[in-house]
Amino acid sequence: MPDRLTLIAPDDWHVHLRDDTMLARVIPHTARSFARAIVMPNLRPPITSVDAAMAYRKRIQAACPDGLTFEPLMTAYLTDHIAPEELEQGFADGVFTAAKLYPANATTNSAAGVTSLDGIDAVFTCMARIGMPLLIHGEVTDADVDVFDREAVFIERHLRPLRERHPELRIVLEHITTEQAVDFVGSADRNLAATITPHHLQINRNAMFLGGLRSDFYCLPVIKRERHRLALRRAATSGDARFFLGTDSAPHPREGKETSCGCAGIFNAPYAIESYAQVFDDEGALDQLEGFASRHGPAFYGLPVNSHEITLERVPVEVPDRIDGLVPFHAGEHLPWRVVRDL
Ligand code: DOR
Ligand code: ZN
Repeated sequence: MPDRLTLIAPDDWHVHLRDDTMLARVIPHTARSFARAIVMPNLRPPITSVDAAMAYRKRIQAACPDGLTFEPLMTAYLTDHIAPEELEQGFADGVFTAAKLYPANATTNSAAGVTSLDGIDAVFTCMARIGMPLLIHGEVTDADVDVFDREAVFIERHLRPLRERHPELRIVLEHITTEQAVDFVGSADRNLAATITPHHLQINRNAMFLGGLRSDFYCLPVIKRERHRLALRRAATSGDARFFLGTDSAPHPREGKETSCGCAGIFNAPYAIESYAQVFDDEGALDQLEGFASRHGPAFYGLPVNSHEITLERVPVEVPDRIDGLVPFHAGEHLPWRVVRDL
């Protein structure tokens, strides 16, 4: 068993960096481990224009600690009224890397999301034509659909028809949580990929109820039963290039989590790569980690892989209970791998 592992520097293909003071708190953690990240646009107000994305990118760069080279890749937040021309302009100018589809009210700050996929068909036509990736939060929001079934229902009701209608549209199904998603993405011949979070690989839904109601393990799409976690672990470690790393690190202030109606989101940025390394090690698949973390994402997005490397070593690391007032994923646990920061 190797005790040191050198990888092409990884990227995070799905992260929430927030804004203002929260941005300042969380950006060092993402920038330390990841060379680039796809930045979610669900701010208040959401990032719906090229100008707003450029201004947000500047704020991220300004908040990034000196000495770290980190490239934020910006996304546009799709609404019922977004103009295809705005997306086309932003994509051509290198401001937007992709556009994010939140079904209206599916999750945090998604009230301005899309109420009907048919209603923005011209947007999909435009994106397919210019090769702009569509990133999807794949859950239906119907109150009569069980919360644990919302991803599987979305796939059949919306994603399958969308793929049939727009086979040229490049789609990432974000933060997949079910074996149905694994099967759907795994059977696509092209133009479909999925990101997988550390938390959906590490825990099942029991974690939310361990000794009480544990809001630190509540996120959306909600974590599912063990069968699904195992399917995700098989997909992530399989070497299949359709599956790649996206942390969905989603910090919330403590008062947003410790309340009778807690926010969805897990702050995993500080030890994300260490968490993935543990999963791949446990599955006997450390040789597949570089593909998942550093190669498959750039290949899908048509970007070069990073030119520098990181090294992990098999030395246990203790995850603190709090980081800057936030509870990190794995708080209080030991993880078996750590990043060698100063070679
Ligand atoms: O758990 C989540 N938190 N899922 C999302 O889709 C959004 C995110 C957030 O922004 O807090
Ligand atoms: Zn997210």
